[in-house]
Amino acid sequence: MQEHILIIEDEQIALKNLEHILLKDGYKITAVDSGTKGLNLIKSKIFDLIITDYKMKKIDGMQILEHSRELQPYAEVIMITGYATVDNAVIAMKEGAYHYIAKPYKLDEVRQIIKQALLKRSLQMENQSLRKQLDQKAKLPEIIGNSPSMLQVKKTIAQVAQTDISVLILGESGTGKELVARAIHSLSSRKKHEMVAFNCGSFSEDLMANELFGHEKEAFTGAMKTKKGLFEFADQGTVFFDEIGDMPPSMQVKILRVIQEKEIMRVGSTQTLGVDLRFIAATHRDLRHEVDQGHFRQDLYFRLNVASIILPALADRKEDIPLLAYHFLAKKNRDMGKSIKEIDRITMDLLANYAWPGNVRELENIIERAVAMENSEVIYPEALPDHLTQLAIETYRTAPEGKIPTMKEQEKRYIQWVLEQTNWNKTRAAEIMEIDRVSLWRKIKAFKLE
Ligand SMILES: Nc1ncnc2c1ncn2[C@@H]1O[C@H](COP(=O)(O)OP(=O)(O)OP(=O)(O)O)[C@@H](O)[C@H]1O
Ligand SMILES: [Mg+2]
Repeated sequence: MQEHILIIEDEQIALKNLEHILLKDGYKITAVDSGTKGLNLIKSKIFDLIITDYKMKKIDGMQILEHSRELQPYAEVIMITGYATVDNAVIAMKEGAYHYIAKPYKLDEVRQIIKQALLKRSLQMENQSLRKQLDQKAKLPEIIGNSPSMLQVKKTIAQVAQTDISVLILGESGTGKELVARAIHSLSSRKKHEMVAFNCGSFSEDLMANELFGHEKEAFTGAMKTKKGLFEFADQGTVFFDEIGDMPPSMQVKILRVIQEKEIMRVGSTQTLGVDLRFIAATHRDLRHEVDQGHFRQDLYFRLNVASIILPALADRKEDIPLLAYHFLAKKNRDMGKSIKEIDRITMDLLANYAWPGNVRELENIIERAVAMENSEVIYPEALPDHLTQLAIETYRTAPEGKIPTMKEQEKRYIQWVLEQTNWNKTRAAEIMEIDRVSLWRKIKAFKLE
């Protein structure tokens, strides 16, 4: 990469000289003969290094330095000065100049100083970008899942994050709607500002207006002080309406107005305030159906549903279950100071075959419970709640024959199944069945298993 150096020097000969030397050294050079021209360039282009004369008419070296610090925070500045003004150059260094070059130049010295300044800059940039990556990672919520439907979700998140359009997130309870909203905000240009989440089902209408819009002093009895609402807090950031389907009709109108007019009015005020907001809404309801039923305003629906993301139920992307289970295992280990290494095969089978009505949140809770209960290094089925382990028997009930099996048949199949799951480890199988090894051995004989 060719580094770009700006030279500002009002003595023509000195300027040409320096330009000549540095061009020969392979840098890209822009050379101008006044502080004014230099300042214009600083405002419009990005440089790696700025070399400026100290004494110039109108705009001098100190002013160039000052503007560079502000407009070109990653560029280094080198001050050129006559011997008479070396003291000033030292002051310039205190103000953030990298170094100075005293006239008349010693060529090698000039080269050396420039080289070092550029090295310092590139190291700084490297640190900067590393730090940025770390920051990003810390803030960006991790969305686990490699199933085709989740890959599509992630793609859409990345796309809509680049824009300011409203996004409607649909999905059953616990599928990760809030997580997705946070991801969009964190990837957007609004990430440095707030994302305010508001649950539309959890307030009475009066309180809701008060929360969202704030109020003026003495707007109502008990309003002692002016209070900012959530819309004001979220200014330049994102508003996340959770469970938008629960928003009462009177509030739907008010919110529509905020989206359309981009302004709000505190309760008890006559003064409008401009707000710059991005809207994301989520619901577990079929909002289209709510519109058809007349429960939700169509105009607001269209405003919110510029783009939509539909989160699949966990049962519809079973291939993500192992990934999620291990993700939560690591997370809960960290939270609880444990070091469980593995999820046993039968445990994983049970997890993979469960219906997950509570989706990812339920999986997270079950892994948390298992991590808390398990004292070994492996999560065995015993650490799962009963309704999950019952599934083993459930599996038989839906056996292929289509006829209801007898108790004996059921038992035979159950034992066979557990033995297969444990790779015929009879001790383990007996443990799972909560019978002793001798009984198991007798049953294996009786049912002619093997
Ligand atoms: N794909 C995923 N990867 C990692 N964690 C996830 C994922 N999906 C959901 N979670 C986690 O599951 C939990 C529930 O997610 P979230 O609160 O976003 O769901 P929700 O759809 O808003 O649920 P509800 O409708 O109940 O409010 C959170 O702890 C979240 O971090
Ligand atoms: Mg939620």
